[in-house]
Amino acid sequence: MTLAFREVQEVNLESVVNIWNACELTRPWNDPYKDIQFARESATSTVLVGIFEERVVAAVMVGHDGHRGCLYYLAVDPAFQKRGFGKATVAAAEAWLRERGVWKINLMVRSENEKAGRFYERLGYEINPVTSFGKRLDRP
Ligand SMILES: CC(C)(COP(=O)(O)OP(=O)(O)OC[C@H]1O[C@@H](n2cnc3c(N)ncnc32)[C@H](O)[C@@H]1OP(=O)(O)O)[C@@H](O)C(=O)NCCC(=O)NCCS
Repeated sequence: MTLAFREVQEVNLESVVNIWNACELTRPWNDPYKDIQFARESATSTVLVGIFEERVVAAVMVGHDGHRGCLYYLAVDPAFQKRGFGKATVAAAEAWLRERGVWKINLMVRSENEKAGRFYERLGYEINPVTSFGKRLDRP
């Protein structure tokens, strides 16, 4: 069973957000539709969808900042997990970055998401000894 990957289209938006919700990746303070729109507006980022039997079953936001690549919102529809689709989705995102000359990915996994951490380690990702800082620019 293989997935076909392509950039997300308008018609897929609801399916993608449904998968992210089902996978508990969305948070009340982040609007996933706005996040997708913003990623699509830039030449250096997008959302890839994985299609299986004409249905969106996986998605990932991928991009780079001119230095490192990053992945966000990686998710496989819960009904289609554990059959290699997550691995294939990461491979598609890595290929997208390689095509654009990116040679290293830095990605963040929420500390409580131990499953995702084990998944990424299985795919050859290593924990970087860094502290991740964040600051919102949309609040006073
Ligand atoms: C993480 C996620 C994308 C994995 O997708 P998946 O389709 O189930 O994973 P795959 O079947 O492609 O697994 C690929 C490999 O990782 C391993 N793996 C997957 N989940 C694992 C886990 N929880 N612990 C250890 N290994 C795991 C598989 O055994 C497989 O190993 P193999 O290649 O040796 O057979 C999926 O569980 C998901 O959508 N989770 C919810 C969303 C999420 O947490 N996303 C990450 C945000 S940072």
